[in-house]
Amino acid sequence: MASYETLLLERRDRVALITINRPAKLNALNIQTRTEGAAALDELRDDDSVRVVVITGAGEKAFVAGADIAEFEGRTSITQRDVMAARSLFTAVDTFPKPVIAMVNGFCLGGGCELALSCDLRIASENAKFGQPEINLGIIPGGGGTQRLTRLVGEGKAMELILTGDMIDAQTAYRLGLVNAVVPAADLEAKTMEMAGRIAEKSPVALRLAKEAVKTAARSSLDEGLRREIDLFALCFSSEDKDEGVRAFLEKRKPEFKGR
Ligand code: COA
Repeated sequence: MASYETLLLERRDRVALITINRPAKLNALNIQTRTEGAAALDELRDDDSVRVVVITGAGEKAFVAGADIAEFEGRTSITQRDVMAARSLFTAVDTFPKPVIAMVNGFCLGGGCELALSCDLRIASENAKFGQPEINLGIIPGGGGTQRLTRLVGEGKAMELILTGDMIDAQTAYRLGLVNAVVPAADLEAKTMEMAGRIAEKSPVALRLAKEAVKTAARSSLDEGLRREIDLFALCFSSEDKDEGVRAFLEKRKPEFKGR
């Protein structure tokens, strides 16, 4: 297992927990954190014992309060472009072949909101705050915020959040469909781990194909998406997990999925 300076990585049964660990800077994403985050996902991708990944922030106050603004000072556009074009943490999460859940425990701003948006599910504590405040710095979201937020909540609300830079609370985020559930802070970890554990019992093959199929919806025409869905559905029929799932149902027992 690799060791990381800016994040903690734990395995709990079939669920891996990545904690962005820069609480004194509200877990702001600097270059090292992004690089280590992508490396941790590389490690977990190849680990068959891990079926679901949860990402959270250290401390009581923040999930991630954005890109590390200190790194912006004096940076040229060419350097900034190189930084963003280098392997992106957001893309690494988005394309990760297992479900990724954001456990949002406080400020979820800018690049933090974009990180949560790259995840497949978002569970928030009641005290979480969401926003894309880049406009206040004279910049715009650059980690997928203008695209993923718009796809998730619609153009009107995305435009409002991005143009005003205003923060919204967890209940408002829930009403917009930005988060899947809001729970009291004290229950956040238990609720998230319970959901992660339930998903981890499913077939890893089916989870992977389901994630790919759902992500295709926002990236293709309806006809292309429906064709892709049939292909991915048919692909399930080459897995031992499909045989096990069907047999277990007919034998009235719980399936034991192996990920093959
Ligand atoms: N990048 C770098 N450092 C950050 C940061 C960021 N995105 N967000 C917070 N920090 C640092 C603060 O500079 C401060 O460091 P210091 O103690 O060395 O001065 C520390 O984290 C604590 O933050 P602080 O601002 O004192 O906490 P607060 O409770 O008063 O305010 C926020 C919390 C989230 C409202 C405020 O930190 C903030 O606006 N952060 C920036 C959010 C943002 O614009 N993100 C998008 C970036 S593109």
